[in-house]
Amino acid sequence: VNPVDIVQLILQNKSLEPQKKMGEGRASTNIALIKYWGKKDERLRIPTNSSLSVALPDKSTLTKITLSDKNHNEVILNGKALDVASPFANRLSIYLDYFRSTSTMYFKINTEVNFPVAAGLASSASGFAALVLALNDFFAWQLTKKELSILARLGSGSACRSLWSGFVEWHAGSKDDGMDSYAEQLDITWPELCAGVIVCEAKAKKINSTIAMQHTMSTSPFFNDWVSQSNKDLMQIKEAIQAKDFVLMGEIAEANAMMMHASCIAARPAILYWQPETLAIIHKIQALRQQGVPVYLTIDAGANLVLFFIQDEKQAIIKALPKAEILQLQI
Ligand code: PMV
Repeated sequence: VNPVDIVQLILQNKSLEPQKKMGEGRASTNIALIKYWGKKDERLRIPTNSSLSVALPDKSTLTKITLSDKNHNEVILNGKALDVASPFANRLSIYLDYFRSTSTMYFKINTEVNFPVAAGLASSASGFAALVLALNDFFAWQLTKKELSILARLGSGSACRSLWSGFVEWHAGSKDDGMDSYAEQLDITWPELCAGVIVCEAKAKKINSTIAMQHTMSTSPFFNDWVSQSNKDLMQIKEAIQAKDFVLMGEIAEANAMMMHASCIAARPAILYWQPETLAIIHKIQALRQQGVPVYLTIDAGANLVLFFIQDEKQAIIKALPKAEILQLQI
């Protein structure tokens, strides 16, 4: 089974003729509390473990799609035309090939991202989710969220979680074709929950997540333990979220992120995403907790941190960590 087979399965009776001049989609990025790290199937992006994220509504991508009059796909990122050979344009182009009805049909993608691209804040998550929504609009497919989630997963794993707000779980699934590997929103409201982002490095990470996952899976002696611990973490964090037990949720999320990074550090050679400032902030957060401020952190495949805390602690967080950009989660 390859991605084209899955696209055909989902789009069985749907048209590949544009139904309007321009399609549009917007999606927020998400930050995982239980990380996706490792794939059972590389090409279909089926993960080795289920994961759970929170949407970051302040950080989003808006994508517009039209037909291109060139003989290649065009990608415009934040107003700048990208070189077709650049890694980002190339990755989008490979994905867009799944949706071209004739060999002469090309797309023009105009995408606006309001946060650092490729800096470990999962821009690919909002990027591919927004693109799938724009395609769905352009071709008037009227797909279900489950189907859109599977299509988004084929572009970037974490993108399958970016079609919802709030807490979202991505079921790893057990089928070889990945038709049961999609995300769903958890039915919960938690308006007091807040997040903050601390950007320690705004430039692209040195090793992208696809390569880093492969390398961790094939060389890290911690990888199998990472998968089994993540399965336990997922079950426990869902209980903590349902019970609105912030401290337990924070402890599990932070431990899960640390274990993902530990599995990378144990790979040979090691993959180390943290910068000195990342480590300094980890120590600061540990000190804050000792002073009685409940705040927890997570880190994706990069040097930047996302903090979680409850509304009442907002002033204490701003005072201790003035660099943190406070985000409204709207859960
Ligand atoms: O979807 P990708 O290939 O960008 O991988 C994302 C991996 C992490 O951000 C580190 C974890 C996650 O679950 O989002």
